Amino acid sequence: MAATGQDPATSAVWTRKHLIGLQDLTAGEITAILDQTAEFKRMGEAGETRIGALAGTVVANLFFEPSTRTRASFSLAAKRLSADTVDFSSSGSSLSKGETFLDTARNIEAMGVSQVVVRHSSSGTPQLLTRHLKASVVNAGDGMHEHPTQALLDIFTIRENRGSLEGLTVTLVGDILHSRVARSNIWGLTKLGARVIVCGPSTLIPPHIEKLGVEVSHSLDEVLAETDCINLLRIQFERQRSAYFPSIEEYAHFFGMNGDRIRKAKKDVLILAPGPINRGVELTPDVADGPHSVILDQVTNGVLVRMAVLYLIQQRRQELNGGTNQ
Ligand code: CP
Repeated sequence: MAATGQDPATSAVWTRKHLIGLQDLTAGEITAILDQTAEFKRMGEAGETRIGALAGTVVANLFFEPSTRTRASFSLAAKRLSADTVDFSSSGSSLSKGETFLDTARNIEAMGVSQVVVRHSSSGTPQLLTRHLKASVVNAGDGMHEHPTQALLDIFTIRENRGSLEGLTVTLVGDILHSRVARSNIWGLTKLGARVIVCGPSTLIPPHIEKLGVEVSHSLDEVLAETDCINLLRIQFERQRSAYFPSIEEYAHFFGMNGDRIRKAKKDVLILAPGPINRGVELTPDVADGPHSVILDQVTNGVLVRMAVLYLIQQRRQELNGGTNQ
């Protein structure tokens, strides 16, 4: 317990320069982001959609892997906070002329960038950048490691529907083995008091994952009735090096969310998916577009979560820089 009487693990205070993953964060730091997100949501609903907090700063989006949601969401979040933005993608860049990843990042930073948002297929890339840049680094998904803002927007969407994570059962279904979204969700959800079940074919569940504080199931039908929120993870064919199940049809039969399973689930079950969704694989169109689905709410909340992250990091930078907004 700190001298203020506040427990640093649970007090909602943000003091970090980077966001690499939820594994590093306390419940209080996660709550600080969620509370700031809620504040931006209130402001947006009151018509205050443009905020000057990042005026005069530059946010660079460095995407070395494809993205629709995360990239657009960070770009919009930065603009809503009045930052200038630089959008870099590896295709069509000087990487094809032999420039290294670090030289690319350093050159973009030299344009006066305060925060670098990075997505890369190699786990550990954001951490590496923190050692080479003065700018803050925000992880937008690194390999199979973490995707912290995706988990934060998942958790925020659950919290706004249910009030609290404490005591809820959240089931993560599908390709847990290759999923950075699963890892970030596991860290965040368990820290906030949720019970987490990971569910999928045994080939797609990492061994010893129970050590992270989760339960394992290989039958979606067995856990449906006790689940409050189901997060349907995409089968990551691009990261799979062998066949992990006999066919897509068989996967959908055993682990896909469909109308029959919705009828067997809790009446108020929430259906989440990080996207992109494969209709007919992880879930059927009637579920994706049905009344239990909060998939598009997740995307809407994603902009607000990313605003909160960029804002809190910039506040911290200002403190460290003696009040200068750089
Ligand atoms: N959920 C997610 O990361 O989507 P994108 O790959 O489109 O950014």
